[in-house]
Amino acid sequence: MLCLGIETSCDDTGVALVRDGRLIASLLASQAKTHAIFGGVVPEIASREHSRLLGPLLDALLHKANLALNALDLIAVTRGPGLLGSLLAGIGFAKGLALALDRSIIGINHLHAHLLAAGLDQELVFPGLGLVISGGHTDLYRMEAPDKFIRLGRALDDAAGEAFDKAGGVIGLAYPAGKEMDKLASTGKPAFKSMTAPYVNNDNLDFSFSGLKTTACNLAVKAGPSVADSIFKADFCASLTKAIAETLTVKVERALEQNADIKAFYLAGGVAANSHIRRRLSVLALKRNCQFIAAPLSLCADNAAMIAYSGYLLHKQGYEHCLDLEAIPRGRQIPEDMIRAPAS
Ligand code: KG4
Ligand code: ZN
Repeated sequence: MLCLGIETSCDDTGVALVRDGRLIASLLASQAKTHAIFGGVVPEIASREHSRLLGPLLDALLHKANLALNALDLIAVTRGPGLLGSLLAGIGFAKGLALALDRSIIGINHLHAHLLAAGLDQELVFPGLGLVISGGHTDLYRMEAPDKFIRLGRALDDAAGEAFDKAGGVIGLAYPAGKEMDKLASTGKPAFKSMTAPYVNNDNLDFSFSGLKTTACNLAVKAGPSVADSIFKADFCASLTKAIAETLTVKVERALEQNADIKAFYLAGGVAANSHIRRRLSVLALKRNCQFIAAPLSLCADNAAMIAYSGYLLHKQGYEHCLDLEAIPRGRQIPEDMIRAPAS
């Protein structure tokens, strides 16, 4: 079973091939430089770039894997959440391929795919607790099976990655700032006491990072020219990282207390690459006797390997979609509308 994965939910155009659960080849065209001058992703530009890049990228992928187009058995595509225009570019391309080749199509939940990506590297263990931390999402799931995720908590406003990116921008770092802030935080001390763990004094499993983002941005604006100072930068990043890591740890520990049968804790999404957050959450998992399953660093950020792999897993369970597959933008619940594939 050869599954093509297509990822276009935001500003990365990705294609990948997974055969029987093993990754064969993967290509990613990042648009980060195109959007960097605007300080964030410009949706209109992102969707145009996806449409421009998908064809040549698929050609290059097939060439790399030494395969012909008609070797594909299944087309898996991100159907949401994401930017609507970007999702439509990928879904339109996937539908064209499915029609031309007379193959099945399957729409993939991008956030579930982030968590399932670890399966390309190691065995998946259920029931699991999954935390996806990215630029647009901070979501906590109970994972019963590859096709059964129950959302326990979500970001009510800004995601953790948004806080890193915007606060990083104010101290002069290029977008997306998360990776650079991770490095800077390693050399600093959490000296800024006003950056405290946000939204922990409640009994829920949701997240809110907009207040912390504003506190961090205001602090940097007030500091004026001192933001250029390397000690200021390092301490600023260490303080923000500590506050974000603290909230994530409190909520994950709370979820583990409420779900005593959990066997593994999964960590995924671009911010899961953060060394400090990764360390704190792996220590917590160990303390709670849970296996720590994190996507390898190469699969933390957006990629199509996780989409192809999820497509393979769901198709193995007997699912597919029809050609009326809809794109679901951020903010709308992804419907459970997979259908049973006809027996082959
Ligand atoms: O999952 P992803 O590639 O795309 C989205 O779906 O958003 O995540 C991108 C986010 C950005 O906010 C970026 O700054 C952040 O992941 N990021 C990091 C690190 N590497 C990437 N944040 C903190 N520490 C990192 N090492
Ligand atoms: Zn993502």
